Parts: sequence; C-alpha cells; structure tokens
Amino acid sequence: MQDQPTKFDVVTGAFSFTGRFIARRLLAQERRIKTLTNHARRPGTEDITAEVAPLQFTDRDALVESLRGADVLYNTYWVRFQHGRVHFGEAVANTRILLGAARDAGVRKVVHVSVSNPSEDSPLDYFAGKARTERAVRESGLAWAIIRPTLVFGQGDILINNIAWLLRRLPIFGVPGRGDYRLQPVAGEDVAEIATWAAEQTDNVIVDAAGPDTVYYSEMVESIAIAVGRHPRFVYLSPRMSLLAARVIGRAMKDVMLNEPELEGLMQELLVSHERPRGTQRLDNWLLSNAETIGRVYASELERHWR
Ligand SMILES: NC(=O)c1ccc[n+]([C@@H]2O[C@H](COP(=O)([O-])OP(=O)(O)OC[C@H]3O[C@@H](n4cnc5c(N)ncnc54)[C@H](OP(=O)(O)O)[C@@H]3O)[C@@H](O)[C@H]2O)c1
Repeated sequence: MQDQPTKFDVVTGAFSFTGRFIARRLLAQERRIKTLTNHARRPGTEDITAEVAPLQFTDRDALVESLRGADVLYNTYWVRFQHGRVHFGEAVANTRILLGAARDAGVRKVVHVSVSNPSEDSPLDYFAGKARTERAVRESGLAWAIIRPTLVFGQGDILINNIAWLLRRLPIFGVPGRGDYRLQPVAGEDVAEIATWAAEQTDNVIVDAAGPDTVYYSEMVESIAIAVGRHPRFVYLSPRMSLLAARVIGRAMKDVMLNEPELEGLMQELLVSHERPRGTQRLDNWLLSNAETIGRVYASELERHWR
C-alpha cells in the first residue's frame, strides 16, 4: 500500500478560472490539494478532487485552521472590479488577512498570483491594488513567489469567450480605438507550470507569466473571428463609444462586460510583459482547438462572483 502524503497545498478558487489550472497541475504531480472557495463545483471542473473550505476573511481562527498543515498556498484571490460596496482596498485588506493566517498556520510558502505591470503609483486601482498585495506578500514573513500573468486564456476565461460570443451573434464588431495596442496572452496551463516552478525555488522570486506571442488587440479579435467562422464588419469606435456599447450589452446580460479602467489598462499595454516569455502555448492554436465551444455561452463576471 502506498503512503498517503500528509502535507497538502492550498489553492484559492480551485474551481474558478486560474486556480483550476494550478489545481490540475498539482494533482498531476500527485500533490494533495485543498481549496478555499465559495463556489465548490463549477461546470468543467469535475476532474478536480480537492478538500473544500470557505474563502472567508471574517472568522480568522477558522481561516487559520483551514490553512494548517499546508505546504504551499497558491493565492489567486482578487476582485476584477469595484462593484457595489466591494472595492480594491477591501481586496487588499483581505489578502493581508489571508497572508497573516497562512503565517500563523505554519504554511511554508505563498505563491501569489498578481498581474503584469503592477505599480503602487498607477492611476488604475486594479494595478495599484495588486502592487499593494505584492508588498503585503513580501512583508508577510512567509517564503514567497510572485507570478504576474498578462491575459490568461483557457477553458473558463471571460474576455476571449465574450469576444467570441459577440462575434457569433453580431454582423458588426466594434473595436475600441484603432485596436493597435498589444497584449501577450498566456495559457492557464503555462501560468500553472510557472506557479509550481516558483513554489520549488529556494529564493523568493518575481516572474511574469506571459505567452510566446505579442499581438495587437485587433489581430486577436480577428483570430477569434477566424476560429468561430465569422466575418463581421469591424468598426473602430472611440473609447467612449466602446464603453457605451459595452454598457448597453452588459446591462442586457446583467453584467459588467468591460469597464473604463479595464479598457485603459488594455490600451496602455499593461498586459504585455517586458521579460523573456516563459509560456509556450499559442493563443491561435488554442482558439482553433476550442473553436466549437468558445463563445457559445456568455460568461458573466457578476454571475460568477457577485450573485
Ligand atoms: N484572468 C486573467 O486574465 C488574469 C490576468 C492577469 C492576472 N490575473 C490574476 O489572476 C488571479 C485569478 O484571476 P481569475 O480571473 O482567474 O479569477 P477567478 O478564478 O475568477 O477568481 C479568483 C479567486 O478570487 C475569488 N473572487 C473573485 N471575485 C470575487 C468577489 N467578487 N468576491 C469574493 N471572492 C472573489 C474567487 O472566489 P471563488 O473561488 O468563490 O470563485 C477565487 O477564489 C487574480 O489575482 C487576477 O488578478 C488574472
């Protein structure tokens, strides 16, 4: 009989998006995992076996207990935008609580999922908030690694899926600005490989997680259109008009499809890395292999996390 490993790793959101890739990679490495989440069992994650505890920040003792015995904490927790009463400051504070609980629980290391180009001076709260969480990680007293993904693609993504969803339905597609700003998408599997690599490093590390191709936004939309077999007329809209269109569609879908700071981040090319790419999978290949499924169903951020 084989010995069961006693140590386990904790992944926040193992049934959500980025966390599912990390969970799968750990399971493939025969690591035992536990997840902290408020959404156990999402469609498409039936293969992920994990003990489940709530992802909550108000009962500190329970949080410490849920982390006790863990070797590595893979932290994906964050909020995509400010909504209702939840703002980025609260997400930073929650991250600090999680890190403190991990330290008190005796966790060896935290692998923190951040974002490309975070900066405490950024006028964009997402990127400024992420930089503050990175500081909290560095000051946590834990061994740490920080992974900075660009735009993550793969099963369960929102942005690429919803572009495909629009392309499948509309004869005209509105591109914000001239579409001449770059992105460097990275596969979820590559993010997971980089995260587990980082967990094994003796030193604390900060690395970008970016894919091999840097593409213009308009090129990415065209690749998605080719994959789903649509040939819409592309129209170039001012950022203001694009946001208005996104708001109208978002309202119809009871979601926030794209908001102003997100569009600014895209147009400022914050989803491009300045390091040698560590990811190897190409978005084009993934789109063609998943052409049948992408964009069939709208992916709602509010449905996923806020209702
Ligand atoms: N997606 C990307 O393209 C991308 C790009 C760059 C960086 N990142 C970073 O990667 C990490 C994971 O992002 P993701 O898009 O993959 O997110 P996600 O899996 O949808 O969510 C990650 C975790 O945060 C929790 N969460 C999300 N919104 C929440 C809310 N409103 N209230 C409470 N908890 C919430 C989720 O809870 P549940 O487990 O309950 O669902 C999950 O545990 C984040 O740190 C993000 O900044 C993502």
